[in-house]
Amino acid sequence: MANVVIIGAQWGDEGKGKVVDIYTEYAKQIVRYQGGNNAGHTLVVGDEKVVLHLIPSGILHPGKRCVIGNGVVLDPKVFLGEIEGLKQRGYFKDDSQLLVDSNLHVIMPWHKAIDLAREKDASRKIGTTGRGIGPAYEDKIGRRGIRMSDLVKPQLFRRKLQEVLPEKNFLLEKFFGEAPLDEEQIFTEYSGYAKQIEKYIGCCSSSLNAAILAGDNLLFEGAQGTLLDIDHGTYPYVTSSSTCIGGVSTGTGVAPCHITGVIGITKAYCTRVGEGPFPTELHDEMGENLRKAGQEFGATTGRPRRCGWFDAVAIREAVRLNGLTGLAVTKLDVLNELDSIKVCTAYSYKGQLLEEFPRDADILHDCKPVYEEFDGWQSNICSATSMADLPAPAKAYLAKLEELAGCPISLVSIGPRRDQTIQVSNPFG
Ligand code: GDP
Ligand code: IMO
Ligand code: MG
Repeated sequence: MANVVIIGAQWGDEGKGKVVDIYTEYAKQIVRYQGGNNAGHTLVVGDEKVVLHLIPSGILHPGKRCVIGNGVVLDPKVFLGEIEGLKQRGYFKDDSQLLVDSNLHVIMPWHKAIDLAREKDASRKIGTTGRGIGPAYEDKIGRRGIRMSDLVKPQLFRRKLQEVLPEKNFLLEKFFGEAPLDEEQIFTEYSGYAKQIEKYIGCCSSSLNAAILAGDNLLFEGAQGTLLDIDHGTYPYVTSSSTCIGGVSTGTGVAPCHITGVIGITKAYCTRVGEGPFPTELHDEMGENLRKAGQEFGATTGRPRRCGWFDAVAIREAVRLNGLTGLAVTKLDVLNELDSIKVCTAYSYKGQLLEEFPRDADILHDCKPVYEEFDGWQSNICSATSMADLPAPAKAYLAKLEELAGCPISLVSIGPRRDQTIQVSNPFG
């Protein structure tokens, strides 16, 4: 029995989708535990590209159960659209493959409206994905959210809508100067979604704990990344969920003692989307080169990603916060052309050398990276099948990342496709 968690070790978009797709072979159930359709996880099968926002990245494998846990916030329209898209492409044929937890919170139209309205204030902008994620989690914590189990009971849904909507409309109209939302229209539209989703609803915790008792392997798919965590990230420039390891248990009802491995996904360099401090960000031609070579444009919003060198200080933080047992280093091939590569080993802050990630975003903002420079390999590594196939400078670079992170490398990804993967060790044993 092995229960492995995949966690973004940076600011998201590290290639979690690809790694989950690779590890799905070893697991029976693949589980999303936090976030919502702010995520965009890309899978490449042959020449075909599939981007998933809500449905776990195991869905392309027939016979695997994909579970959306109670910690996720779910936009019903996006969810149904994603199912439809997968069915049209012939990927998802069996409805029993999918389970949606009845306790998860639903993203309602006012969540999106409030998210977008807040982002109009340039002085307080977070650079969110505009999907209503933050406002939906606010209502969950504020105990006024609408859960999936409410949506499928028409009378209860109507009552909750009548309780919540006047307050939201007051905020939208009087504070943000936006148009109010119509109760009847929302009731009809979302009752319709509920009818279509009902067949997928169940209990994530019961299903997963029964699987654990039966000795099945589970794979937990994190969304976003460690540095976007609501508690441990670069607050307030974060998302509104627990992206770190603790989110697995609260977001699924599986106790921490069942987790046997935690793999942190990191690019061989670094990216970030939206606002917030990013010490190794490159504002020059090199940053542009990385964006081009890595095709660094958001899988959800299409926004250009900010690019920079690998930040070992940040990775050490991810190792510590999540108890990472292994690292998956992705997009090593993006560095193919470079004659030299920099790695940030520490920060300089007001004349002080910092080797630990500062907890305060304002301090991080004023940190300057201290770099070590390494030789590039200037050759195409995309068809390597083992570590031995990699050129010496690439091996030396990976060894340095491993040493600086203080965590062994379990997997190296050298292209978006499944066959462009080197598995160094298998967390499923
Ligand atoms: P996620 O959100 O962590 O799942 O990552 P995204 O899907 O948002 O972004 C990762 C992007 O990098 C996707 O377009 C992947 O197809 C691509 N990708 C993943 N691994 C590799 C790799 O090793 N090399 C290259 N060149 N692209 C990769
Ligand atoms: P995946 O799972 C990268 C960022 C947004 C913004 C901040 C808050 O694909 O790695 P939100 O809409 O969550 O309130 O936005 O978090 N963000 C992501 N960045 N990858 C993601 O997901 C992200 N999900 C949210 O850009 O800075
Ligand atoms: Mg992404």
